[in-house]
Amino acid sequence: MKTRIISVHPKKPDRKKIEKAAAILRKGGIVGFPTETVYGLGAGIFSSSAIKKLFKAKGRPNDNPLIVHIASKKQLKALVTEVPPVAVKLMKKFWPGPLTLILYKSDLVPSSITAGLKTVAVRMPAHPVARALIRQANMPVAAPSANRSGKPSPTDAGHVLDDLNHRVDCILDGGASIVGLESTVLDLTSKPYMVLRPGAITVKEIRKIIGTVKVYPSRRGTGRQLDRVKSPGMKYRHYAPKARLFLWEGRPNRIRTVAQRNAASLLRQKQKVALVTTDLSYCVSGIQNVLMGSTAAEVGRNLYLVLRMLDREKTDVILAVGFEEKKVGLAVMNRLRKAADRYSVLL
Ligand code: TXA
Ligand code: MG
Repeated sequence: MKTRIISVHPKKPDRKKIEKAAAILRKGGIVGFPTETVYGLGAGIFSSSAIKKLFKAKGRPNDNPLIVHIASKKQLKALVTEVPPVAVKLMKKFWPGPLTLILYKSDLVPSSITAGLKTVAVRMPAHPVARALIRQANMPVAAPSANRSGKPSPTDAGHVLDDLNHRVDCILDGGASIVGLESTVLDLTSKPYMVLRPGAITVKEIRKIIGTVKVYPSRRGTGRQLDRVKSPGMKYRHYAPKARLFLWEGRPNRIRTVAQRNAASLLRQKQKVALVTTDLSYCVSGIQNVLMGSTAAEVGRNLYLVLRMLDREKTDVILAVGFEEKKVGLAVMNRLRKAADRYSVLL
């Protein structure tokens, strides 16, 4: 399959260009498109062949449900059994934007999208290109991140092309994603309400609107030396670069010592090593050091970009110093812990 690339203005997308992609969706094709979080891979929710094609293109396991994207609040009603008052409050405050809500699904939503669950994940993206595409396609659009399954999510059209060239019909190129990490996923069907995946909308912001909210733990365990912990729900590495990733949290001085020791030993083994951090004082001489930015938002925006860049440069091992879990930092650490081959808390 030839993948067609259509460049569009990120803020004022040309209707005719969007129409080409919308027509592909209506005919059962699959389209990569920008959202404010990461690029999505869209398929019309009522086309079972498009949904099949989408799972195949990503190499995604069928038991992982998809998020349904809508362009207006009106579209939500038909997808769910009920829109509870808490959802109304959250939508008012955060939609359009990087918040995905999990609600009980209506019969209209095919079970291939929800992996047989009684619930459906719904989000209204803020990106003008995403909204125009969904509006012009005139139907809800299922869209996982537009990466091959397991890899870091794509934050620009080039990343989508790297992963999915010849596997998708079209990519709308609308520039880089501003948030850089996937949406916050909030389950409103569990009591207490539960953040399943942290994102740019923070737990604190959500609590301000609806009160008690729990956060699903992202750690693969706790303790001192945690090499790969295997538990059923964490079968796969997620968001992961090709390079091996070692992640450390804990006492700064211990991290410095361990990072230096690891770097030295890897260099002796002729490995290409890079260290990622926000703090110059962790930098190790003799290897590549990448400063991720000075605010949580910058680190969030840069994370996948840097992981993909280091892969392109054929880095063998990435050493990562844990980031502060303030604001979007919680989401950054959630992704890093899931991507890590080795993860240690140094006490
Ligand atoms: O920012 C985003 O959310 C991006 C853009 C493209 O919108 N999309 C995205 O989709 O990250 P994906 O498929 O990569 O991640 C969807 C997450 C998965 O962790 C999936 O398991 C969870 O949402 N999910 C979807 N439906 C669910 C449901 N009914 N119950 C629990 N989790 C669900
Ligand atoms: Mg994904």
